[in-house]
Amino acid sequence: MRIPAHVAIVMDGNGRWARRRHRPRTFGHRAGQKAVRAAVEFCLRRGIGALTLFAFSSENWRRPASEVGALMELFLKALDREVAELSGHGVRLRFIGDLALFAPPLVERMQAAMAETCANRRLALNVAVGYGGRWDIAQAARGAAQAALRGELDAAAIDERTLARYFCLADLPPVDLFIRTGGEHRISNFLLWQIAYAELYFTEVLWPDFDHACFAAALADYARRERRFGALGEDAGTPSAATRE
Ligand code: IPE
Ligand code: IPE
Ligand code: MG
Repeated sequence: MRIPAHVAIVMDGNGRWARRRHRPRTFGHRAGQKAVRAAVEFCLRRGIGALTLFAFSSENWRRPASEVGALMELFLKALDREVAELSGHGVRLRFIGDLALFAPPLVERMQAAMAETCANRRLALNVAVGYGGRWDIAQAARGAAQAALRGELDAAAIDERTLARYFCLADLPPVDLFIRTGGEHRISNFLLWQIAYAELYFTEVLWPDFDHACFAAALADYARRERRFGALGEDAGTPSAATRE
Protein backbone atom coordinates (compact mmCIF):
# COMPACT_ATOMS: atom_id res chain seq x y z
CA MET A 1 0.00 0.00 0.00
CA ARG A 2 1.25 3.47 -0.88
CA ILE A 3 2.10 5.30 2.36
CA PRO A 4 2.18 9.10 2.49
CA ALA A 5 5.55 10.60 3.38
CA HIS A 6 3.92 13.56 5.11
CA VAL A 7 0.49 13.78 6.72
CA ALA A 8 -1.05 17.03 8.00
CA ILE A 9 -4.09 17.04 10.28
CA VAL A 10 -6.56 19.75 11.31
CA MET A 11 -7.54 18.34 14.69
CA ASP A 12 -11.05 19.78 14.86
CA GLY A 13 -14.10 18.90 16.93
CA ASN A 14 -12.91 18.89 20.55
CA GLY A 15 -15.54 21.41 21.64
CA ARG A 16 -18.43 19.53 20.08
CA TRP A 17 -17.16 16.25 21.51
CA ALA A 18 -17.31 17.80 24.99
CA ARG A 19 -20.69 19.45 24.40
CA ARG A 20 -22.24 16.10 23.50
CA ARG A 21 -21.14 14.90 26.92
CA HIS A 22 -22.43 18.05 28.65
CA ARG A 23 -18.90 18.92 29.67
CA PRO A 24 -16.85 22.12 29.26
CA ARG A 25 -14.90 22.61 26.03
CA THR A 26 -11.59 22.11 27.83
CA PHE A 27 -12.68 18.56 28.64
CA GLY A 28 -12.71 18.00 24.88
CA HIS A 29 -9.25 19.51 24.47
CA ARG A 30 -7.92 17.18 27.12
CA ALA A 31 -9.50 14.21 25.37
CA GLY A 32 -7.94 15.46 22.14
CA GLN A 33 -4.49 14.96 23.61
CA LYS A 34 -5.07 11.22 23.76
CA ALA A 35 -5.89 11.27 20.06
CA VAL A 36 -2.60 13.10 19.44
CA ARG A 37 -0.72 10.33 21.19
CA ALA A 38 -2.58 7.72 19.15
CA ALA A 39 -1.83 9.53 15.88
CA VAL A 40 1.88 9.78 16.68
CA GLU A 41 2.00 6.11 17.63
CA PHE A 42 0.23 5.22 14.39
CA CYS A 43 2.79 7.13 12.30
CA LEU A 44 5.66 5.45 14.11
CA ARG A 45 4.15 2.03 13.47
CA ARG A 46 3.35 2.65 9.83
CA GLY A 47 6.63 4.33 8.97
CA ILE A 48 5.14 7.71 8.13
CA GLY A 49 8.10 10.08 8.32
CA ALA A 50 6.39 13.42 8.90
CA LEU A 51 3.24 14.45 10.76
CA THR A 52 2.09 18.06 11.06
CA LEU A 53 -0.69 18.80 13.52
CA PHE A 54 -2.75 21.99 13.69
CA ALA A 55 -3.07 22.61 17.43
CA PHE A 56 -3.80 26.35 17.60
CA SER A 57 -4.40 28.69 14.70
CA SER A 58 -3.49 32.36 14.42
CA GLU A 59 -7.27 32.98 14.55
CA ASN A 60 -7.77 30.90 17.70
CA TRP A 61 -6.42 33.87 19.69
CA ARG A 62 -9.93 35.27 19.16
CA ARG A 63 -11.43 32.71 21.53
CA PRO A 64 -12.35 33.67 25.10
CA ALA A 65 -9.32 34.23 27.33
CA SER A 66 -10.44 31.37 29.55
CA GLU A 67 -10.29 28.83 26.71
CA VAL A 68 -6.97 30.18 25.39
CA GLY A 69 -5.54 30.05 28.91
CA ALA A 70 -6.70 26.48 29.40
CA LEU A 71 -5.15 25.45 26.09
CA MET A 72 -1.83 27.07 27.03
CA GLU A 73 -1.91 25.18 30.32
CA LEU A 74 -2.51 21.93 28.44
CA PHE A 75 0.37 22.64 26.02
CA LEU A 76 2.72 23.27 28.91
CA LYS A 77 1.75 20.14 30.76
CA ALA A 78 1.98 18.05 27.59
CA LEU A 79 5.49 19.36 26.94
CA ASP A 80 6.60 18.38 30.43
CA ARG A 81 4.93 14.98 30.22
CA GLU A 82 5.62 13.82 26.67
CA VAL A 83 8.92 15.14 25.35
CA ALA A 84 11.26 12.58 26.91
CA GLU A 85 9.14 9.67 25.71
CA LEU A 86 8.76 11.11 22.23
CA SER A 87 12.49 11.57 22.02
CA GLY A 88 12.98 7.97 23.11
CA HIS A 89 10.92 6.91 20.09
CA GLY A 90 13.08 8.93 17.71
CA VAL A 91 10.64 11.81 17.28
CA ARG A 92 11.95 15.21 16.28
CA LEU A 93 9.59 17.82 17.63
CA ARG A 94 9.16 21.18 15.97
CA PHE A 95 6.77 24.04 16.67
CA ILE A 96 5.76 26.21 13.76
CA GLY A 97 3.88 29.48 14.00
CA ASP A 98 4.25 32.97 15.38
CA LEU A 99 5.78 32.07 18.73
CA ALA A 100 6.27 35.76 19.61
CA LEU A 101 2.66 35.88 20.81
CA PHE A 102 3.09 33.12 23.41
CA ALA A 103 4.18 33.58 27.02
CA PRO A 104 7.99 33.45 27.31
CA PRO A 105 8.09 30.43 29.69
CA LEU A 106 6.03 28.40 27.22
CA VAL A 107 8.23 29.47 24.29
CA GLU A 108 11.33 28.50 26.27
CA ARG A 109 9.87 25.03 26.85
CA MET A 110 9.03 24.67 23.17
CA GLN A 111 12.55 25.70 22.19
CA ALA A 112 14.06 23.33 24.73
CA ALA A 113 11.94 20.48 23.37
CA MET A 114 13.05 21.28 19.82
CA ALA A 115 16.70 21.39 20.86
CA GLU A 116 16.38 18.18 22.85
CA THR A 117 14.92 16.22 19.95
CA CYS A 118 16.59 17.85 16.94
CA ALA A 119 18.90 14.92 16.17
CA ASN A 120 16.04 12.38 16.01
CA ARG A 121 15.23 11.01 12.60
CA ARG A 122 12.38 8.50 12.82
CA LEU A 123 9.41 10.88 12.77
CA ALA A 124 9.32 14.62 12.21
CA LEU A 125 6.44 15.79 14.40
CA ASN A 126 5.47 19.38 13.71
CA VAL A 127 2.97 21.12 15.94
CA ALA A 128 1.45 24.26 14.44
CA VAL A 129 0.72 26.78 17.19
CA GLY A 130 -0.29 30.37 16.53
CA TYR A 131 0.14 29.25 12.95
CA GLY A 132 -1.57 30.63 9.88
CA GLY A 133 -0.88 29.71 6.28
CA ARG A 134 -0.95 33.39 5.36
CA TRP A 135 1.45 34.20 8.19
CA ASP A 136 3.78 31.56 6.72
CA ILE A 137 3.58 33.15 3.27
CA ALA A 138 4.33 36.57 4.78
CA GLN A 139 7.29 35.32 6.81
CA ALA A 140 8.68 33.48 3.77
CA ALA A 141 8.42 36.66 1.67
CA ARG A 142 10.08 38.62 4.47
CA GLY A 143 12.91 36.07 4.70
CA ALA A 144 13.54 36.22 0.97
CA ALA A 145 13.39 40.04 0.95
CA GLN A 146 15.89 40.23 3.79
CA ALA A 147 18.24 37.82 2.00
CA ALA A 148 17.98 40.00 -1.11
CA LEU A 149 18.83 43.10 0.94
CA ARG A 150 21.89 41.32 2.30
CA GLY A 151 22.90 40.58 -1.27
CA GLU A 152 22.54 36.81 -0.85
CA LEU A 153 19.67 36.52 -3.28
CA ASP A 154 18.95 38.12 -6.63
CA ALA A 155 15.43 39.51 -6.24
CA ALA A 156 14.81 39.34 -9.98
CA ALA A 157 15.57 35.62 -9.94
CA ILE A 158 13.17 34.64 -7.15
CA ASP A 159 11.07 31.74 -8.38
CA GLU A 160 8.94 29.02 -6.72
CA ARG A 161 11.95 26.92 -5.88
CA THR A 162 13.78 29.83 -4.22
CA LEU A 163 10.78 30.97 -2.22
CA ALA A 164 9.99 27.42 -1.11
CA ARG A 165 13.15 27.43 1.00
CA TYR A 166 11.75 30.15 3.27
CA PHE A 167 8.54 28.37 4.25
CA CYS A 168 8.09 26.40 7.44
CA LEU A 169 8.87 22.70 6.88
CA ALA A 170 10.94 23.44 3.75
CA ASP A 171 13.24 20.55 4.62
CA LEU A 172 10.41 18.01 4.64
CA PRO A 173 8.60 16.39 1.72
CA PRO A 174 5.44 18.23 0.66
CA VAL A 175 2.21 17.17 2.36
CA ASP A 176 0.80 14.07 0.64
CA LEU A 177 -2.31 13.67 2.77
CA PHE A 178 -4.29 16.43 4.46
CA ILE A 179 -6.87 15.23 6.98
CA ARG A 180 -9.53 17.31 8.71
CA THR A 181 -11.68 15.81 11.41
CA GLY A 182 -14.87 17.37 12.78
CA GLY A 183 -16.90 17.56 9.58
CA GLU A 184 -15.96 21.02 8.27
CA HIS A 185 -14.76 21.15 4.67
CA ARG A 186 -12.26 23.96 4.90
CA ILE A 187 -8.56 24.68 5.36
CA SER A 188 -9.01 27.36 8.09
CA ASN A 189 -5.67 28.99 7.20
CA PHE A 190 -3.59 25.89 7.92
CA LEU A 191 -0.76 25.02 5.51
CA LEU A 192 -1.42 26.71 2.15
CA TRP A 193 1.78 26.62 0.08
CA GLN A 194 2.66 23.15 1.38
CA ILE A 195 -0.64 21.48 0.43
CA ALA A 196 -0.68 22.55 -3.22
CA TYR A 197 -0.91 18.92 -4.35
CA ALA A 198 -1.97 17.18 -1.14
CA GLU A 199 -4.85 14.72 -1.23
CA LEU A 200 -7.65 16.11 0.94
CA TYR A 201 -9.56 13.85 3.31
CA PHE A 202 -12.48 15.05 5.42
CA THR A 203 -14.20 13.02 8.10
CA GLU A 204 -17.16 13.66 10.39
CA VAL A 205 -15.30 11.94 13.24
CA LEU A 206 -14.56 14.42 16.04
CA TRP A 207 -10.87 14.68 16.89
CA PRO A 208 -11.00 12.94 20.31
CA ASP A 209 -12.55 9.91 18.57
CA PHE A 210 -9.93 9.76 15.80
CA ASP A 211 -8.24 6.44 16.58
CA HIS A 212 -5.98 4.03 14.71
CA ALA A 213 -8.90 2.60 12.75
CA CYS A 214 -9.89 6.11 11.58
CA PHE A 215 -6.31 6.90 10.58
CA ALA A 216 -6.05 3.55 8.76
CA ALA A 217 -9.27 4.38 6.86
CA ALA A 218 -7.76 7.70 5.76
CA LEU A 219 -4.61 5.92 4.59
CA ALA A 220 -6.63 3.35 2.66
CA ASP A 221 -8.56 6.15 0.97
CA TYR A 222 -5.28 7.88 0.13
CA ALA A 223 -3.83 4.70 -1.35
CA ARG A 224 -6.77 4.53 -3.78
CA ARG A 225 -6.26 8.04 -5.12
CA GLU A 226 -4.64 8.51 -8.49
CA ARG A 227 -2.18 11.36 -8.18
CA ARG A 228 -1.46 12.99 -11.49
CA PHE A 229 0.25 16.27 -10.59
CA GLY A 230 -1.18 17.79 -13.72
CA ALA A 231 0.19 15.09 -15.99
CA LEU A 232 -1.77 12.25 -17.60
CA GLY A 233 -2.91 9.19 -15.65
CA GLU A 234 -0.79 6.15 -14.90
CA ASP A 235 2.38 7.32 -16.56
CA ALA A 236 2.44 10.56 -14.59
CA GLY A 237 5.28 9.11 -12.53
CA THR A 238 6.71 11.00 -9.62
CA PRO A 239 6.21 14.74 -9.53
CA SER A 240 8.84 16.87 -11.15
CA ALA A 241 11.41 18.63 -9.01
CA ALA A 242 9.41 21.82 -9.41
CA THR A 243 6.19 20.46 -7.89
CA ARG A 244 7.97 18.60 -5.13
CA GLU A 245 9.65 21.73 -3.86
C1 IPE B 1 -10.10 22.05 17.71
O1 IPE B 1 -11.33 21.83 18.29
C2 IPE B 1 -9.06 22.46 18.69
C3 IPE B 1 -8.67 23.88 18.59
C4 IPE B 1 -9.04 24.69 17.65
C5 IPE B 1 -7.78 24.38 19.62
P1 IPE B 1 -12.39 22.99 18.49
O2 IPE B 1 -12.10 23.67 19.80
O3 IPE B 1 -12.38 23.90 17.32
O4 IPE B 1 -13.72 22.17 18.57
P2 IPE B 1 -15.11 22.52 17.89
O5 IPE B 1 -14.83 22.76 16.44
O6 IPE B 1 -15.62 23.74 18.58
O7 IPE B 1 -15.94 21.31 18.12
C1 IPE C 1 -8.95 24.96 12.97
O1 IPE C 1 -10.11 24.72 13.71
C2 IPE C 1 -7.80 25.17 13.90
C3 IPE C 1 -7.37 24.01 14.67
C4 IPE C 1 -7.88 22.81 14.61
C5 IPE C 1 -6.27 24.23 15.54
P1 IPE C 1 -11.13 25.90 14.05
O2 IPE C 1 -12.23 25.29 14.83
O3 IPE C 1 -10.41 27.04 14.67
O4 IPE C 1 -11.61 26.34 12.60
P2 IPE C 1 -12.93 27.09 12.15
O5 IPE C 1 -13.11 28.28 13.04
O6 IPE C 1 -14.05 26.12 12.28
O7 IPE C 1 -12.68 27.45 10.71
MG1 MG D 1 -13.41 23.91 15.59
